[in-house]
Amino acid sequence: MKRIPEPFRIKMVENIRMTTRAEREVALESAGYNPFMLPSDMVYIDLLTDSGTGAMSDRQWAGMMIGDEAYAGSRSYYHLADKVKELIGYKYTIPTHQGRGAEQILFPTLVARKKLKGGAKSPVFISNFHFDTTMAHVELNGAKAINVVTNKAFETGNYYDWKGNFDIELLKQTIKQHGQDNVVAIIATITCNSTGGQPVSLANMKAVYEIAKQHDIPVVIDSARFCENAWFIKQREKGYENKSIKEIVKQMYQYGDMLTMSAKKDPMVNIGGLCCFRDDETLFNEVCVRCIPMEGFVTYGGLAGRDMEALAVGLEEGMDENFLSYRINQVTYLGEKLRKEGIPIQYPIGGHAVFVDAKLFLPHIPCDQFPAQALSNALYLEAGIRSVEIGSLLLGRDPDTGKQKDSPMELTRLTIPRRVYTNDHMDYIVDAFIGLKQRAADIRGLTFTYEPPILRHFTARLKPIEKI
Ligand code: F0G
Repeated sequence: MKRIPEPFRIKMVENIRMTTRAEREVALESAGYNPFMLPSDMVYIDLLTDSGTGAMSDRQWAGMMIGDEAYAGSRSYYHLADKVKELIGYKYTIPTHQGRGAEQILFPTLVARKKLKGGAKSPVFISNFHFDTTMAHVELNGAKAINVVTNKAFETGNYYDWKGNFDIELLKQTIKQHGQDNVVAIIATITCNSTGGQPVSLANMKAVYEIAKQHDIPVVIDSARFCENAWFIKQREKGYENKSIKEIVKQMYQYGDMLTMSAKKDPMVNIGGLCCFRDDETLFNEVCVRCIPMEGFVTYGGLAGRDMEALAVGLEEGMDENFLSYRINQVTYLGEKLRKEGIPIQYPIGGHAVFVDAKLFLPHIPCDQFPAQALSNALYLEAGIRSVEIGSLLLGRDPDTGKQKDSPMELTRLTIPRRVYTNDHMDYIVDAFIGLKQRAADIRGLTFTYEPPILRHFTARLKPIEKI
């Protein structure tokens, strides 16, 4: 595989602590066998998330020094809103403290606009795949979150270019089944985090948008990894190989009416989000009304002026083609090496992470004993690497029946922060898996000692199941 070197050099370093296995055993037990509860000082390589964990550039740090901290009319707000107009083509911008801040002001506004018809009990949102906080905000608003991603996404071993795509037939059926008046919005998540950082094609986004317009349903683009999605389109979609990332991004956003964005991913800020509207001024004003009590006055939303400056710069840097090639190449480097060692992963490899198929890696652990969490714990004990479960534990229970939702996959996500780790770190991760593979049969499943009612994976406490 061709290696693409870093298109940056390192100006400042942060030391990280190496630990012993004995120290890690104590730490994991006191964390209730839940990596979210580990102090980060006990972690050597932190692959929990790519969210807010990227390294800002010198230009972003310089922006921090010139932020305008005015409560109203901050120059930094106008800089940010102008960048959104220029790069994405949306007229109205609300900064928020992060992605879920955008969800918490937008979703209730969209739900309030709906008048349910045909005896429907609850309104629905339809997405290729709702991210967990996105689903939580849908459910907090009394609505149901329905995922209609292509079935091909679930066959981890089989290559398919667009494992983030909507299943168009299923989308149509779902609209019909619930009635178009009861569908609050369609959410296009780009890339699709839950299926493995997998891209959505422009053709698919266009088809979704056309269906939405036929049924008078608004389309929200959940934009955490929009630059990575554009990069995949350039590599894989016919007709776009000679387009620039900037052109592709503009095109993607023509197939949406508004966006929510966790700016902690592709735009590489440590905190920040966006809620923007293409041209619906009335909706923008309605969301502003909710923004003031929840996030803050519209010209700062949930952010300091300096954060908005860093974000304005990050939006542009995240779209840099050389950076994206290096970035995705590093994730691919890790994934290909793991595959070579016979570790089952979601294939093709996604943009921000390698997703290990824990169902295949630990076939002796049933889903209700959380195999992907068990693998995540074993990886931590083996090498001090923190990863995250994307499976049954994260999916949780149906709010109506209290039953565990059926998770289509049990994945352990190795999420690569941007501009932070080197390929030597990637090699170290591969070595850890080589060790784990030999001892896989000894890894045990988990059971709850404490199960929180919502978003349980963050704070749950577990224990390994005794061997019989
Ligand atoms: N949408 C997607 C697709 C996400 O991946 C995330 C966050 C959010 C929305 C929420 O944004 O965290 O800024 O409030 N994903 C992180 C992750 C946390 O680890 O994948 P947020």
